[in-house]
Amino acid sequence: MSQADLPSSKILSKNASFDSGEFVVAGVSATKIAAEFQTPVFVIDEADFFERAKTFKDSLESAAGEKSGHCYYAGKAFLCKEIARWVERAGLALDVCTGGELEVAIAANFPPERMEFHGNNKSVAEIRRAIEVGVSLIVVDSEIELERVASIATEMKRVQKILIRITPGVEAHTHDYIATAHEDVKFGLSIASGAAMKVMQKALTLPSIELRGVHFHIGSQITSDEGFTLAISRTIEFLAHFTRESGKAIAEFDIGGGYAISYVESDEALDPKTIISALVSAIRDESERVGIEMPTVSIEPGRAIIGPTTATIYEVGTVKLVELDSGSRNYISVDGGMSDNIRTSLYDAEYSVALANRISTESAISSRVVGKHCESGDIVVRECDLPSDVRPGDLLVTPATGAYGRSMASNYNHVPRPPVIAIRDGKARVIVRRETYQDLLGLDS
Ligand code: LLP
Repeated sequence: MSQADLPSSKILSKNASFDSGEFVVAGVSATKIAAEFQTPVFVIDEADFFERAKTFKDSLESAAGEKSGHCYYAGKAFLCKEIARWVERAGLALDVCTGGELEVAIAANFPPERMEFHGNNKSVAEIRRAIEVGVSLIVVDSEIELERVASIATEMKRVQKILIRITPGVEAHTHDYIATAHEDVKFGLSIASGAAMKVMQKALTLPSIELRGVHFHIGSQITSDEGFTLAISRTIEFLAHFTRESGKAIAEFDIGGGYAISYVESDEALDPKTIISALVSAIRDESERVGIEMPTVSIEPGRAIIGPTTATIYEVGTVKLVELDSGSRNYISVDGGMSDNIRTSLYDAEYSVALANRISTESAISSRVVGKHCESGDIVVRECDLPSDVRPGDLLVTPATGAYGRSMASNYNHVPRPPVIAIRDGKARVIVRRETYQDLLGLDS
């Protein structure tokens, strides 16, 4: 494989590169990482995480000024205690969407006044815990949940601040499973059907509830501003309507996450500064047009902060050249697969991949990188060109696996989940250790 075929800086984290065929993150080579931590392994470029977090926070603050709300890191993309501590140190807020994510944040001493709690089916226990620890905002997803939050808050003698999650009826151009703001979807309350208005009005009547504003999240891996701006104009019109009907102004508007990153060279990532500035301007202009005071603006990037910072390193176990009518394909099996990256089989996601431990002078041939699971769909990279001499013991790297990789990992076939290693200035350390067979057996009676 020639140097030109290696993933470019568009795909790699800021401090990652290829040095004489070796993948290197912040001064530590793939060979060294594999020797010390074994494979498969997720490696995070720590400084890059802080840089990306700061870029989003600064973009919001410079675009919205005194109208900037919070820049939340969406923990669902990847959360562990150390990441929660990084988010805190970077000055961001944190979005959690289950009791489990909430417990991680609590265990990391994340300040509750900088947390919001999402989810379309929060249990009584989860809501009680969130209110008990003082989570700033609960994002309410249904009428039943509004009643549930109100009654728990009443019982706990608290007034809980909430946002209502609305669906602006926008078809986001992304995979069906990660589009969330069209009408036929489980999330939120529709503007068009009147459901959102009804629940907003009801919230005003509940003494244990303080309605702060609205939230939408139109989907993930969104590559242009069109869906966002349409959703913004519908929402601002809705807010004007609500204010006319109720006499109550809405203070906060949270426009969610979804900002696209580059997985392969042809992907165009959204530039944070450009997109956030465009969206904040749209909110300012629309508010002016309909004659309401501009609400504060919050955002919730997940993928665009953690995704590009992380790469997965695998070791090759077997290689098999399969002859097909259309030619041949080299099946390269690695020591992980759909248990550490389900995105390829679930969303047809594409990844870049490269040999990570040496230079090969052999020509690249049509290849498929597959995992070790008992399923044909267990594919890490469906179509790629890798050197014809890739062999057992070689290392491969798939960059941009930080978002929804380890966080959606499973124990399919009783495969323990990989560790997460943070690297900064030539030093690598474990932030989530490798799961062991003992961990897995510990659950059995
Ligand atoms: N806010 C809310 C309310 C969300 O539901 C999500 C993602 C985010 C923020 C963050 O979105 P991001 O900036 O990370 O795109 N497993 C799928 C993605 C599911 C996203 C769910 N919600 C994937 O691997 O692509």
